[in-house]
Amino acid sequence: MTQELAPVVHGEAPAAADRPEDAQTDWWRSAVIYQVYVRSFADGDGDGVGDLPGVRARLPYLAELGADAVWLTPFYASPQADGGYDVADYRTVDPLFGSLADADDLVRTAHELGLRVIVDIVPNHTSDRHAWFRAALADRHGGPDRERYHFRPGKGVNGELPPNDWESVFGGPAWTRVPDGDWYLHLFAPEQPDLDWDHPEVREEFDRILRFWLDLGVDGFRIDVAHGMVKAPGLPDIGHQEQVTMIGSQVLPFFDQDGVHEIHRSWRRLLDGYPGQRIGVAEAWAPTPERMALYVRPDELHQAFNFHFLRCDWDAAAMRAVIDESLAATVSVGAPTTWVLSNHDVVRHVTRYGGGATGLRRARAAAMLMLALPGSVYVYQGEELGLPEVTDLPDDVRQDPSFFRANGQDGLRDGCRVPIPWTAGGSSYGFGSGGSWLPQPASWAGLSVEAQTGDPASTLELYRAALRLRRELPGLGAGESVHWQDAPEGVLALARPGLACTVNTRSTPVELPVPGRLVLSSEPATPTGGNIRLPAHSCIWWAI
Ligand code: GLC
Repeated sequence: MTQELAPVVHGEAPAAADRPEDAQTDWWRSAVIYQVYVRSFADGDGDGVGDLPGVRARLPYLAELGADAVWLTPFYASPQADGGYDVADYRTVDPLFGSLADADDLVRTAHELGLRVIVDIVPNHTSDRHAWFRAALADRHGGPDRERYHFRPGKGVNGELPPNDWESVFGGPAWTRVPDGDWYLHLFAPEQPDLDWDHPEVREEFDRILRFWLDLGVDGFRIDVAHGMVKAPGLPDIGHQEQVTMIGSQVLPFFDQDGVHEIHRSWRRLLDGYPGQRIGVAEAWAPTPERMALYVRPDELHQAFNFHFLRCDWDAAAMRAVIDESLAATVSVGAPTTWVLSNHDVVRHVTRYGGGATGLRRARAAAMLMLALPGSVYVYQGEELGLPEVTDLPDDVRQDPSFFRANGQDGLRDGCRVPIPWTAGGSSYGFGSGGSWLPQPASWAGLSVEAQTGDPASTLELYRAALRLRRELPGLGAGESVHWQDAPEGVLALARPGLACTVNTRSTPVELPVPGRLVLSSEPATPTGGNIRLPAHSCIWWAI
């Protein structure tokens, strides 16, 4: 990075180990939670795939960064048909990622560092290698082992057509036929058969799975496809040809059905039975912020990712509208909003915002805006390094199942999953000693943790400074509203307790009166004569 120094406020964050375990009530309301995509974070055994010992060794980095908690993507026994979101055994760690003892060590070390640990739970579907699905395949049409899934006869004279017109999120029909003629439902890949949550054994088994991990000490669950477990009675046709999307305005018979809420209520009761504020965060895609807010009613889950914010363009008016709508919806049920800009399923936001130098400037500013808002924030591994999407992966290294199925909505997810660079040199830039399962661009040497550490103009140091300030100003993540100030078109100006935040989304500088003492800026900026020229695509925080 060759930018000039950006002014940064000084003052040390409390050492992670000094953070009292439960001094802050409702820690999750304003927590900064760092998403670790386990296979791409750090490789402890040199097989080219990230693992739990690798994560554990890098936990001090996350504590020092200023995260409050870490979310680990699935590391359970799995054939890896969908990066581990196809679970064959929910109580076993896949040897690819380590052992149960490694999971135990990781949780203990995290707690020693003052970090909480959230694990992923995948309740909508199992792997096709799960014992239940193997038994279902071995059973006959109408047999009891098929009842934990959605098996149906086909349509057409010989049952040769799928039972309804639903499409898989990954492309193609949501049904696969088995040799005896029955079809089974899979909203994702054929290797991910959907469970039937009307079956009592399914509910009982997931209660036991949640308890298993809570007993091991985890602080909560990220609930995969939390909006999908219940299907409309009778599995009715959609009646139109539009490809299924995870988020959209259409009401679908397999997403966001009212029946899912009873499951989340029962899990909330289960979580509340444990000490230490264990949480549930919904990966729920709902058509509107109001429907999203239903997942975080007081007796349901604690958080739900705000994908409306993630999908918002770099546009001041649109961002303001999404922020207002999101806050209004969650405030109406007394919940915090959960901001997120990137995850392992979407194009990294540097690239979404246009890529190159402009995309990076916008991404840095958007992160500062997000961190100035009330609520909890999720940071996806590598966004603190300003990593762009890798858009030129060769086809033969890709693993995303949707890449192999025509017209899949999420066909390009490998590009945001490339292992992150830790060092400027060495094998796979410090990811591990045995290369990396997806090739890293050569330009990532300069984006590594090592290269950025100590460079105040780097994105890593910008995140560190912003997270330090967020800790110093506890009012920042708390509360439930922002106070918008008058600002020229293309500029957002908002006030928060102790802080003013200005964002210039325009491609030219904008002159404004100085609202306070400059404490952090995403681009070099110096106030003169009571005014500030807000650089293009930038954000500034002001102490007030
Ligand atoms: C969620 C996960 C995604 C996975 C899908 C099916 O959307 O984030 O990675 O492919 O669920 O489990």
